[in-house]
Amino acid sequence: MTTKRQILVTNALPYANGSIHLGHLLGYIQADVWVRAMRAMEHDVIYVCADDAHGTAIMLRAEANGISPDEQIKNVQVEHERDFADFGISFDHYDSTHSDTNRQLAESIYLANHQAGNISIRPVTQLFDPQKQMFLSDRFIKGTCPKCQSGDQYGDSCEVCGTTYNATELINPRSTLSGATPVQKSSDHYFFNLPNFSQFLQNWTRDKGRLPTSIANKLDEWFEAGLTDWDISRDAPYFGFKIPNTDDKYFYVWVDAPIGYMASFKNYLNTCRPDVSFDDYWQKDSQAEVYHFIGKDIVYFHALFWPAMLSGANYRTPTSLFVNGFLTINGEKMSKSRGTFIKAETYLKYLNPEYLRYYFASKLSDKVEDSDLNLDDFIAKVNSDLVGKVVNIASRCAKFINTQFDNQLSNECAEPELVERFIKAGDSIITHYENREFSSAIREIMALADLANQYIDDKKPWALAKDPANAKQVQAVCSVGLNLFHKIMVYLSPVLPTLAQKSQQFLNVDNFDFSARFDILTHAIHEFTPLMQRIDPKKVQAMIDDSKENLQPANPKSGKNDKKECDKMENQNEFIGIDDFAKVQMKVAKVLECNKVEGADKLLQFTLDVGDVDENGTPKTRNVFSGIAKFYQPEELQGKTVICVSNLAPRKMKFGVSEGMILSAEKDGQLTVVLLPDSMVAGATFA
Ligand code: MSP
Ligand code: ZN
Repeated sequence: MTTKRQILVTNALPYANGSIHLGHLLGYIQADVWVRAMRAMEHDVIYVCADDAHGTAIMLRAEANGISPDEQIKNVQVEHERDFADFGISFDHYDSTHSDTNRQLAESIYLANHQAGNISIRPVTQLFDPQKQMFLSDRFIKGTCPKCQSGDQYGDSCEVCGTTYNATELINPRSTLSGATPVQKSSDHYFFNLPNFSQFLQNWTRDKGRLPTSIANKLDEWFEAGLTDWDISRDAPYFGFKIPNTDDKYFYVWVDAPIGYMASFKNYLNTCRPDVSFDDYWQKDSQAEVYHFIGKDIVYFHALFWPAMLSGANYRTPTSLFVNGFLTINGEKMSKSRGTFIKAETYLKYLNPEYLRYYFASKLSDKVEDSDLNLDDFIAKVNSDLVGKVVNIASRCAKFINTQFDNQLSNECAEPELVERFIKAGDSIITHYENREFSSAIREIMALADLANQYIDDKKPWALAKDPANAKQVQAVCSVGLNLFHKIMVYLSPVLPTLAQKSQQFLNVDNFDFSARFDILTHAIHEFTPLMQRIDPKKVQAMIDDSKENLQPANPKSGKNDKKECDKMENQNEFIGIDDFAKVQMKVAKVLECNKVEGADKLLQFTLDVGDVDENGTPKTRNVFSGIAKFYQPEELQGKTVICVSNLAPRKMKFGVSEGMILSAEKDGQLTVVLLPDSMVAGATFA
């Protein structure tokens, strides 16, 4: 064996405001397969991760959930750790960026950079929400585009005409948090002087093996455009770490997030590995290797800010960044309405996690390419490769060994050349793993599976077994088959840890490192039990249906029983149970915008803030049409606080989709919208 390498591997730290979904899992499975392969090569690997717990989005999510940020991040961490464990992600340690260790490291890295002259302070004028008493980032401001006059555009750019601008240039800007008109306000901000590291970074990113070439090229564009200072402070209220020697300035979440890699590692050593020294891995001249697996959307932070911060504080920088592309499902972005925004938890209700690990591995390479999970292909590939080819080898041979030879394999190998070929094939497969060329590794392993099946087809043990005189031969053929299966499972073990575990048990062997490929099995095995089921396409469909969110009415009024259902409802007595009432969800909503609808005299169109956030925790507005134009002018409702029935099934209308209903009271042809005090917060529910 070659020398033992000291390797630290991290995965991007998922935000503590949402569930793990299949898109996330692409990068976690990629890293885990690599980690397991490096362990199978008997290197010394430490694999850590943590929840990324800070920032405005998490603060607001906690507020919307009516809990403290501390509770919010605790709840989510439990869920994340469970999901990762269920998908076989073998972290040695999972932490949170909201830890004392991380606070200490963040402070010391900041202070070292301060000392080295890499921090400066200057005032910044920003939009401020006078109602919420907080500064607003671009995502929390909407208004009319200064260029094309389209309404309802975010504070950084217009989705209609593509212009980018400063939030202060928006016409009629509004805070998406409160609906209030923001005011301009200045405060001191702390900056990390990235241009100080310009030369260092240009060299660093071009070092061999540091980055995928396509990423290094992209970075060149950024260097050409010129690096600028990075704003690392946020004003209160903010959920994060306070900047040392300030009263009310907090580190921007992206400062302490990557430091969380170090802190998680440190906490792991403190609790489980007193034999390993933190400095051996992180000091400037460290010989240990550090790899960060990240998605392509967060390269800027990892390839520029992170190495600069580390270098400014006299630490070593990562050996390489391994960057994954994005996941699409059936060729499109994951979508809640199509049911392809699939949470880890939902997947696991229907399918074996190893199906997905295998499918992802069969697609992944060292390139930064997007990967598509085509569900038909997924079913076909898993069923044909894993069940049809690999597991089939074992089931075809085991039966004879179990029943006719008292579990005993032949004590001599009948096909040394064939078995040797399978052992030799390991060299290239292992190299592919090491280079993160998983799709090539899988291709070569499946070619071996084909060979093994062909061998069994040729020898036809089932035909031989008809004549007792052939007993020795049957045992020999099946023993060869099981030896071939053994090599294949050793090679697949980084991808399919559970299947490998079961195979190990069946084959009665205790080592499945890559070196186990040299073993020729001649001992007694155990009883064969089915190792893996085929994917039932119905389960895939059920998973999709289950992932379609909030788009079905709670009480469907369509379908063949439509009429009957309605009659039944009408004939029931006029009381409803508390359970029925509880189905109706009402929320406090701010009218961000109210407009007449061209071509529909009765309708008003509302843009409401009902406290919704998207999967990234970014506030999201709702569009609602209401037939009350006869009673109100748009200006009368603009900025008002109303009640929205928020879980009505979206209704497609001629003018767009209506995503809720505004409550009003009607008697004798007079209608009044129910107005609430403006102090009520958007998204609040009624108790
Ligand atoms: N918290 C930051 C990372 C901080 S690292 C110091 C973050 N979190 S995230 O939850 O948004 O994303 C976690 C990882 O999942 C990132 O690597 C991101 O690129 C990846 N992905 C999120 N959605 C994805 C897909 N649809 N497809 C593939 N990877 C995706 O970013
Ligand atoms: Zn525009």
